[in-house]
Amino acid sequence: MNKELRIKACDINHVEEYGRIYAAAFSGEPWCDPWKEADAAIHVKELLQCPQSYGLECVVGDEVAGFLLGTSMLFHYGRTFEINDLAVDPKFQGHGIARRLMDQAMTDLKRQGIVGVHLITAADGWLKDFYGRYGFAKEERVILMGMEMDAPNTDN
Ligand SMILES: CC(C)(COP(=O)(O)OP(=O)(O)OC[C@H]1O[C@@H](n2cnc3c(N)ncnc32)[C@H](O)[C@@H]1OP(=O)(O)O)[C@@H](O)C(=O)NCCC(=O)NCCS
Repeated sequence: MNKELRIKACDINHVEEYGRIYAAAFSGEPWCDPWKEADAAIHVKELLQCPQSYGLECVVGDEVAGFLLGTSMLFHYGRTFEINDLAVDPKFQGHGIARRLMDQAMTDLKRQGIVGVHLITAADGWLKDFYGRYGFAKEERVILMGMEMDAPNTDN
């Protein structure tokens, strides 16, 4: 990539771009999620508006190419951070943008005194190895549990 690449704090005025990037990135492998851009923009906006949110965007030239976004939470042992979103526009993928976002985020979070970082990612595929390079490992003490809710009964 010849254009200048800059890592900056997320900008609430860029939620439409983040939504477009998020929907495009998660419609690809391994997720294949059918996101609507408008819903993805709401998803990002809600996260960004959390008082404890922290996020970075990557701008290539004058285009937003990707972003990392998450929130922190206080526990008895200190404040931890969850990476909720990491997405790079498919047309900019494979150029080290996620690596740049992760490097900067890890530096910032350490400086902020964050004691641990966690995230949820795909059980299969290469993402485990990507995060593994930063020191992330599968948790042994906890598991992610979930349930699906039945649709509300609208008969009455
Ligand atoms: C995950 C994602 C953010 C990576 O963005 P990216 O900018 O293309 O990644 P980078 O170019 O910085 O690559 C970093 C490393 O990831 C690995 N990697 C990236 N794309 C890969 C692919 N398609 N297959 C295998 N490994 C890959 C490589 O090891 C690469 O390291 P290298 O450059 O030293 O070889 C991007 O693919 C994406 O948006 N995916 C959809 C959303 C998603 O899955 N987000 C993470 C959810 S937990």
